[in-house]
Amino acid sequence: KKRNTIATFRKMKQEGQKITMLTAYDYPTAKLLDQSGIDGILVGDSLGMVVLGYENTTQVTMEDMIHHIKAVSRAVDQALVIGDMPFLSYHMGIKESVKNAGRIIQEGHAQAVKLEGGIEIIEEIKAIIRAGIPVMGHLGFTPQSIHQMGGYYVQGKTENEARKLLEDAKALEDAGVFSLVLEMVPAELATMISSQLSIPVIGIGAGVGCDGQVLVTHDLLGFYHGNIPKFVKQYAEIGQTIKDSVSQYIKEVKQGTFPREEHCFHSERISISQLYG
Ligand code: KIV
Ligand code: NA
Repeated sequence: KKRNTIATFRKMKQEGQKITMLTAYDYPTAKLLDQSGIDGILVGDSLGMVVLGYENTTQVTMEDMIHHIKAVSRAVDQALVIGDMPFLSYHMGIKESVKNAGRIIQEGHAQAVKLEGGIEIIEEIKAIIRAGIPVMGHLGFTPQSIHQMGGYYVQGKTENEARKLLEDAKALEDAGVFSLVLEMVPAELATMISSQLSIPVIGIGAGVGCDGQVLVTHDLLGFYHGNIPKFVKQYAEIGQTIKDSVSQYIKEVKQGTFPREEHCFHSERISISQLYG
């Protein structure tokens, strides 16, 4: 099977096939997601919270992102790999924005970048696309603006907000983004925006009417002990599996029942009694 590209995403929308995406931040997880047949892997700046122990995504740096995007890119043969642009990496002018997007491709080996915002960053987005870098947009709840938004709130709940969201989505499409993430948006609005745009809309907390879905893998697997948002479905309890396994290991080491004979090496060429002297 051929490697997924932004053309694969476009084609899937045209054919009405749902697009599946999850996040990954390291080699083994990315490998497992890829082997499971996921369409796209996002190295999200959720990295900061689920892997690095930061309070929110505003602490994530370009260096953090590049380090983890590299690891994911090494693992993936099939999925489209998209790297998040971190806080302030696309707000310090066109030149700096293109340079940072370029690093995600050149050093991180991602195939595309994602960044948050609409009309206010449209010139940066156009410049990045002109440099040959595919851009995924991100509207609705945008975690990097957490301090401005004042909390984790659904976006687009009023007529004015909904109209602004649709305008932003259309502006992003016109600017040339290949796809758009909608986060925490009323399901009916997300369905309408998905039908109005020709690019695939990937929802998270945006209902079943989007062209695809994305979730944070750690939330889906139960591998994270922060707040699990309402829009997450937890498919596994990896956290509990890890705790149970580690408790069992501790118990067996303390009891002397691990390691057992099958875990040991032996040599006939040494005489242990001689070594005691
Ligand atoms: O950082 C991230 O994981 C994201 C997704 C939740 C869309 O931006
Ligand atoms: Na993100």
